[in-house]
Amino acid sequence: MKFSTSKLTAALMGASMVAAFPAADMNVEDCTTTVSASHHHNKRAIAVEYVYETVIVDSNGHTISGLTGSQTVSKATATPASSATTTTLAPATTTSSTSAAAATTTSAAASTGSSSGGIYGDLAAFSGPSEAFEDGTIPCSSFPSGQGVISVDWLGQGGWSGIENTDTSTGGSCGEGSYCSYACQPGMSKTQWPSAQPADGRSVGGLLCKGGFLYRSNTDSQYLCEWGVNSAEVVSELSQGVAICRTDYPGTENMDIPTFVEAGATQPLTVVDQDSYYQWQGQKTSAQYYVNNAGVSVEDGCVWGTEGSGIGNWAPLNFGAGSTGGISYLSLIPNPNNRTPLNFNVKIVAADANSVVNGECYYENGSYSSGSDGCTVAVTSGKAKFVLY
Ligand SMILES: *[C@@H]1O[C@H](CO)[C@@H](O)[C@H](O)[C@H]1NC(C)=O
Repeated sequence: MKFSTSKLTAALMGASMVAAFPAADMNVEDCTTTVSASHHHNKRAIAVEYVYETVIVDSNGHTISGLTGSQTVSKATATPASSATTTTLAPATTTSSTSAAAATTTSAAASTGSSSGGIYGDLAAFSGPSEAFEDGTIPCSSFPSGQGVISVDWLGQGGWSGIENTDTSTGGSCGEGSYCSYACQPGMSKTQWPSAQPADGRSVGGLLCKGGFLYRSNTDSQYLCEWGVNSAEVVSELSQGVAICRTDYPGTENMDIPTFVEAGATQPLTVVDQDSYYQWQGQKTSAQYYVNNAGVSVEDGCVWGTEGSGIGNWAPLNFGAGSTGGISYLSLIPNPNNRTPLNFNVKIVAADANSVVNGECYYENGSYSSGSDGCTVAVTSGKAKFVLY
C-alpha cells in the first residue's frame, strides 16, 4: 500500500515559519497520508501557524490512525538581550582537547557519549537523568545546569533559553512570576510547562519563579529533561561544525536550543514523542530546527537573526522531527526567509542495516529531492541519520 502525501501549501508571512510535515512521496506499507496546512496569527507577534493532518488508512479505506499537529513560529516582540559572553564549545570527550590533530580530535568528539557538561550536556546518550529536581530550593538567580539541562549563555539571560514575564514581555532576568525556560542536551526535551496555557495562542514553558525560588510547572515529571524517541541522529561528513538550533517550545520560540555537530561528529537529534509531549490547543507538536551554514557557531547561529543575516530564523534550512504511533516523521523543510542554498548537503537515510526508513529525502545543491516544499521520511523501525555532506 501507498503512503502518499498531498502538497502542503504554506503561506509566508512574518519573520519566520516552519512547516511541520511538508510534501513527500513515500512508500509505507498499507498507508495513505494526506497533509494540509492552514495558518494562524499569533496575537503577541508576527507568527505563522501550521496545522497538518495525517490520516493513515488501510487498503479498504478504513482509518487506522489519525494525527493532527501544528507548529507555531513567532517572532517575539522583545529582542533577547545580546551580550559578549563567549561559550567554549568543548568537545564531548576531554581526551582530545590537547591534540594538535584537529581532524582526528573532532572525530573523537563525535558523540553520543558522555561529556563533562557544556553544550553537550552531562548525560550519556539515552541514559539518566537520575536526580530529581527539588522545588523551592534553587534561587531564581541561579541556573540549574546538569541532569541534561544546559546553559545557553550567549543570550545574556543567565543561561535561560527564554524568559516569559507576567506582563507577557519576554527576556530580562528570571524574576518573580516569570516562566524561565531552559535548553536540554541533544536528544532530550524539557518537561516543564504549565497545563494552563494562555488563551491567545502563545505558549508558556519552563520553571516558575515564585517567592524567589524555582518551581516545576509540571510536577508530573521529577526531572527537567526527558529523552525523546531514539530514532534520529545527525552524522557530519563536513570539515566545519554545524549549529542546528531548535525552537524553544512551548515558550518564546527563540531558535536557541543547540545541537552543535562538530566536523566529523555524530549527535542525537531530538525526536519528540508527539503522543505524550506538549499539545497546542489539543494538537500534537513536533521539534523544529533551524540549520545554519557550516562554520557558524551556536553563539552566532542559535539566536533570532536579522533580515538577510542568513542565521537563526534566517538560516536556509529547517528540520522537523516528531513521532506518533511508533512511526517517526523526519523532514527537510525550506525556510522561505532564505532561499540561498546552504553551504552543504543533507540526506536522511537509514542509520544501519536494521533500520527501516521509508521514502527518499535529500537536499543537494540547494534543491530538495521531491520539489520545492521539502521532503519527509517515515522511520518505522530503528533509526535514521541526517547525513551532512
Ligand atoms: C550537485 O552538484 C554536484 C557537483 O556539481 C553533482 O555531482 C551532483 O550530481 C549535483 N546533485 C544534484 C542532485 O543535482
